[in-house]
Amino acid sequence: MKKTSLFLFAGFLAVTAPHRPLCAAGPAREARNDRVERAIDSILARLTPEEKIGQLLQYSGRWSDTVVNRGITLEERALIRQGRVGSFLNAFGTGITRELQRIAVEESHARIPLLFGLDVIHGFRTTFPIPLAQAASWDPAAVERSTRVAAREASAAGVHWTFGPMVDIARDPRWGRIAEGAGEDPFLGAAMATAQVRGYQGRDLSDPTTILACAKHFAAYGAAEGGRDYNTAEISERTLRDVYLVPFKAAVDAGAGTLMASFNEIDGVPSSANKHLLTDILRNEWKFDGFVVSDWNSIGELLNHGIAATRAEAAQKSLEAGLDMDMASDVYRDNLPALVKNGKVSAKILDTAVRRILRIKFRLGLFDDPYRSCNPETEKSEMLTPSHIAAAREMARESIVLLKNQSDLLPLRRDTKTIAVIGPLADNRHDPLGPWKGLGEAKNVVSLLDGVRNAVGNSASVLTARGCTISGTDTAGFGEAVSAARCADVIVLAVGESMDMSGEAGSRSTLDLPGRQEDLVHVIMGTGKPVILVLMNGRPLAIPWEAEHVPAILETWFLGLQTGNAIGDVLFGAVAPSGKLPVSFPRTVGQVPIYYGHKNTGRPDTSNEHFSSRYIDLPSSPLYPFGYGLSYTTFSYSDLTLERQSLGTADTLRANMTLTNTGQREGDEIVQLYVRDLAGSVTRPVKELKGFQRVHLAPGASAIVPFSVPVASFAFTGLDMKKKVEPGSFILWVGPSSVGGEQTTFEVVER
Ligand code: GLC
Repeated sequence: MKKTSLFLFAGFLAVTAPHRPLCAAGPAREARNDRVERAIDSILARLTPEEKIGQLLQYSGRWSDTVVNRGITLEERALIRQGRVGSFLNAFGTGITRELQRIAVEESHARIPLLFGLDVIHGFRTTFPIPLAQAASWDPAAVERSTRVAAREASAAGVHWTFGPMVDIARDPRWGRIAEGAGEDPFLGAAMATAQVRGYQGRDLSDPTTILACAKHFAAYGAAEGGRDYNTAEISERTLRDVYLVPFKAAVDAGAGTLMASFNEIDGVPSSANKHLLTDILRNEWKFDGFVVSDWNSIGELLNHGIAATRAEAAQKSLEAGLDMDMASDVYRDNLPALVKNGKVSAKILDTAVRRILRIKFRLGLFDDPYRSCNPETEKSEMLTPSHIAAAREMARESIVLLKNQSDLLPLRRDTKTIAVIGPLADNRHDPLGPWKGLGEAKNVVSLLDGVRNAVGNSASVLTARGCTISGTDTAGFGEAVSAARCADVIVLAVGESMDMSGEAGSRSTLDLPGRQEDLVHVIMGTGKPVILVLMNGRPLAIPWEAEHVPAILETWFLGLQTGNAIGDVLFGAVAPSGKLPVSFPRTVGQVPIYYGHKNTGRPDTSNEHFSSRYIDLPSSPLYPFGYGLSYTTFSYSDLTLERQSLGTADTLRANMTLTNTGQREGDEIVQLYVRDLAGSVTRPVKELKGFQRVHLAPGASAIVPFSVPVASFAFTGLDMKKKVEPGSFILWVGPSSVGGEQTTFEVVER
């Protein structure tokens, strides 16, 4: 197939805009950007209004159809030929994408390449752990690697654009989409957002193994009242800026080419028509030069929200607010032509939106090579390679969090003779794929049972029984499970959620183990045998009984294709667990929302004072705190020192901490640095994560762990709504989680 350089065809030099620089653009980069803008000027000059509006329209393919046609209709093919389609989602595979791209660039007057988008959330065909699990690794480099693999596989299948990373801060685990993000903390969330954008987009988006990132859901989607998906976010501008926007700003600074507007309203204004969000903050303050896509029918849903009386009004409000592309609804398609024709929407507004989309298509190199992702040989060779599978296993290992290990029950002894792997998630290859599994297939999953069998080989016998289903009420299987337990030296008991109990529209009103699993845990514990509880879930679960009575507990989330091998590696000590919780685990749903970075209030619950902010029937503390996770060894923290106790607002705080491996095994510790600003023009959180480092130590070894933290990172939105560092006294902690650790103090002064 000839490789048409469209701009040569259109009489212009083919240019590919550079990936948005992480650093300030140099002269060469600016020259290239100028050439792109001039090229876009020329395209705009020759497009009809219908063709311009066409660039704002995204149509959806259909998952259920064969790879060949993805259900793209003849009518949609005709619309492409008329230059009235800008993008497709859910249309992937080199065959269909090449066919549709050919129509767009060789049969239409507009000759503008299509953009193919897909939800590549935690892997394409090689399914990695869900994002919440990856965040539990606290290893941005590993997350970048896993996202790079996803980009290589997706781009090989004709995909240009993923609707990820999902960077919504979530502090209510009833909200099922907590599974898709990096948890409760802005600093960890920003680190994970940056890693994923870099993994997807690489150093230069015109590299055909990269895909365009889309930070979503902009914004404050995770602040849904009641943890009910799509619900209202009633938060202050200050909380919006200092909590929920932080990972989005990090994604934009990392060069994310697109954002997706969220379904929810913020303080009365739905994000899809929120000019303050999409233009004042995103474009005018952050200088974002990519484009914003709606979330599915979020433009049409402005009528449900009650801020548009007609679909025409919805179209006008969204476009004028700064929402450039309409995903899969027909609101822009049906209403913009008349709005533009009768002058209700200015040509300038329309051209601005088209320009943003064309700029990204240039940045992707699509004008230079519209068939960049259409090689069927690469599509075959790139999928599920041994190196990709190995990366999935490594990421899964690091995502596992050891919550309890009484009497060092773990790692299991190699001379264990009989192991019973019990529970509805033991011999289960479907649910460990997790929500938004994309093209992940159960046939490629290593189940927990498979993984234990792989680990022991012929050295032990492995029994199994399901006991019950995940959500059913039938306990008829308990007997078989108890029998298997009685025959075993040790029991690995796998309980948790099904993949559809979290993710989109997956909000739960409780955090308990679903179905009769709690009873299953009790009867298995009743055998008196040693039990290792393996949790597989998309959100924190309230497991106070288990925390008290079960000797060992592993939080494994949904680990994707290599579930069983990764858990087996940890169970038998091939690797020590190193994960730390990216989200607090409540004792009960009644504590929600519960997160470590809360405010102190006027009556903190730090004493036995009756009249303080507390419950009369439960401690205020979580079951397991943010940043918590054990290892197979132990670590001690000592000699916390600061280079200076007094720092100017433009200085860098330098701290040293000595970490010692006081146990018998090597291990990784994720050392965390928190600060508290004791007094400000507005109240401040009792703790804020401002640094973390993974340190590997042999038994008995020590290391000095250095931290360098810019004082500027202590900035917050003050009483005057301006973001700045305020002088004052601070406490600093360095420790193993958001609780405890060594502490010291320092001052920030004006200078
Ligand atoms: C869904 C989700 C969004 C996803 C989009 C496309 O409604 O909210 O995260 O990217 O539609 O599938």
